[in-house]
Amino acid sequence: MNYDFDEVIDRRGTNSSKWDDCKDVFGRDDIVPMWVADTDFKAPIEVIEAMRKRLEHGIYGYTYRGQSYNETVVDWVKKRHGWDIDSEWITFSPGIVPALSMCVNTFTRPGDKVVIQSPIYPPFQSVVEANGRIKVDNELILKDNHYHMDLDKLREQICIQDSGEFDNRVKMFLLCNPHNPTGRSWSKEELLELGRICVENNILIVSDEIHSDIIYSGHKHIPIASLSEELAQCTVTCISPSKTFSLAGLSTSAIIIPNKRIRSMFNNTLETLHIDGGNIFGSIALEVAYRNGEEWLEELLVYLEDNLNFLMKYFEEKIPQIVPIRPEATYLVWLDCSGLGLEGEQLMDFFANEAKVGVNLGSNFSRRCGSFVRLNIGCPRSTLKEGLKRIEEAVNRL
Ligand SMILES: Cc1ncc(COP(=O)(O)O)c(C=O)c1O
Repeated sequence: MNYDFDEVIDRRGTNSSKWDDCKDVFGRDDIVPMWVADTDFKAPIEVIEAMRKRLEHGIYGYTYRGQSYNETVVDWVKKRHGWDIDSEWITFSPGIVPALSMCVNTFTRPGDKVVIQSPIYPPFQSVVEANGRIKVDNELILKDNHYHMDLDKLREQICIQDSGEFDNRVKMFLLCNPHNPTGRSWSKEELLELGRICVENNILIVSDEIHSDIIYSGHKHIPIASLSEELAQCTVTCISPSKTFSLAGLSTSAIIIPNKRIRSMFNNTLETLHIDGGNIFGSIALEVAYRNGEEWLEELLVYLEDNLNFLMKYFEEKIPQIVPIRPEATYLVWLDCSGLGLEGEQLMDFFANEAKVGVNLGSNFSRRCGSFVRLNIGCPRSTLKEGLKRIEEAVNRL
């Protein structure tokens, strides 16, 4: 290993949401924070050096993203995911959640229906509801410790109940691939079938692929838009180096829209909001991470997979009351805590005040998941061990 992912870096006092918000969120600050989805690893040195060089220039006036920025995104998507894209398809958003919200606002109207698949990262629900659209929840199915899409149910859900006719108020499908919090990296078959339903019914797919670089062995990320020309023409794909390279605070994402009309509508929204400029450091970081960060990423993937294997074994051997759903992607692990006999606020209280570990409560991802929590393993092994030890001891005291 050339990179030291074991290094423990103190993030307290940096206005880190994950570390410095513990007191507000959990009521105490002696928490091992394993909640907010960013990592405790330092970004690749090449990225830091490039930003340092720019920082030392001293003038941070208005800038634009040059041709090399777009070319780097084209190359990254090709080499990591085998998808050929044109540089002109690439546009910008400060973040993926803002991109989801802009898509909802641009391509649907109040009262239109937008499909999501719960359990799901909570902003998928709020960008629909807070914008006055109607959420259609095509709930995922959990079977044998594995989540699946329920596409038969989806066919029913997009129809008007009495007539069986397609409900033309269903305008958009918000896909999370890989999926947060279940860790699924959707298969080609699932994506093709979902894509067929959307193409047949003129439903625009907005695919959040922010976690697409964190994939475990035996799995492969498939951008849904890469599966056919038809799918490319009805998909907005959102990617960012933010989760992968510890860059989430730099607010820079690439939005890939092959269809010219859809792209120009999206760009129109960006321009209306006057947020298309981005920021100097985010642009530099994206470009350098995608151009020079592959070796670092390969090592990160090995490290995260070791973390994951460590966690799986730990729960199996020492905390069998909690069952992790093994993720295929993402550094987020969805834990089934039903064996503890606690739900909702009681479960939250258990993790915060008994284990002193900061987790995300499952009921925020789905009303059915009150006995689940989400645990972030994007941290040095020593932090992971400390978190697991605290959970084990608290479970033993129950
Ligand atoms: C699936 C998913 N989408 C989007 C985001 C946030 O993206 P951004 O910070 O770019 O808005 C997260 C962060 O946890 C996420 O897990």
